Amino acid sequence: MCINIMRKEDKYELTLKEAEAVLENEENTISIMATLVALLKQNFDSIYWIGFYIVDNGVLKIGPYQGTIGCLTIEPSRGVCGRAYTKGLTQIVDDVHKDPQHIACDPKSNSEIVVPVFNYQDQIIAVLDIDSEIFGNFDEIDQLYLERLINSSFKTRH
Ligand code: SME
Repeated sequence: MCINIMRKEDKYELTLKEAEAVLENEENTISIMATLVALLKQNFDSIYWIGFYIVDNGVLKIGPYQGTIGCLTIEPSRGVCGRAYTKGLTQIVDDVHKDPQHIACDPKSNSEIVVPVFNYQDQIIAVLDIDSEIFGNFDEIDQLYLERLINSSFKTRH
């Protein structure tokens, strides 16, 4: 079936299976991040920008991403990414222009989801930031599947 006409849930199920197959036995964090970014970007037309921000000495530093140039450093007190990091909880923003904490790296982004990444010791090591040009593009289905994808890709590994 053409991926463009698949339901969102089915695209995520496919992405989960692809990630499981491609990342089997992979331990390198950057390789895992780069692969997840590529898989999600190729499976979801609605994604404009996708990337990881990695926790580094108390700030978030840009990691593997696809899209236009992203901010290199995000302070924990700033951005939707900073909020996801400090709260340790997924953030969904339907209209980024109405969120005072949002950092506009690219004016084309209109909605956003940021998912925290935990390692096997339950320490937060990064956040996954996904932006869309479509307002209100992300909902609880995205949250559920992205958290599953992140957990199965990082939490089970040392
Ligand atoms: N919008 C994010 C910053 C990163 S860029 O969108 C690539 C934020 O508010 O944290």
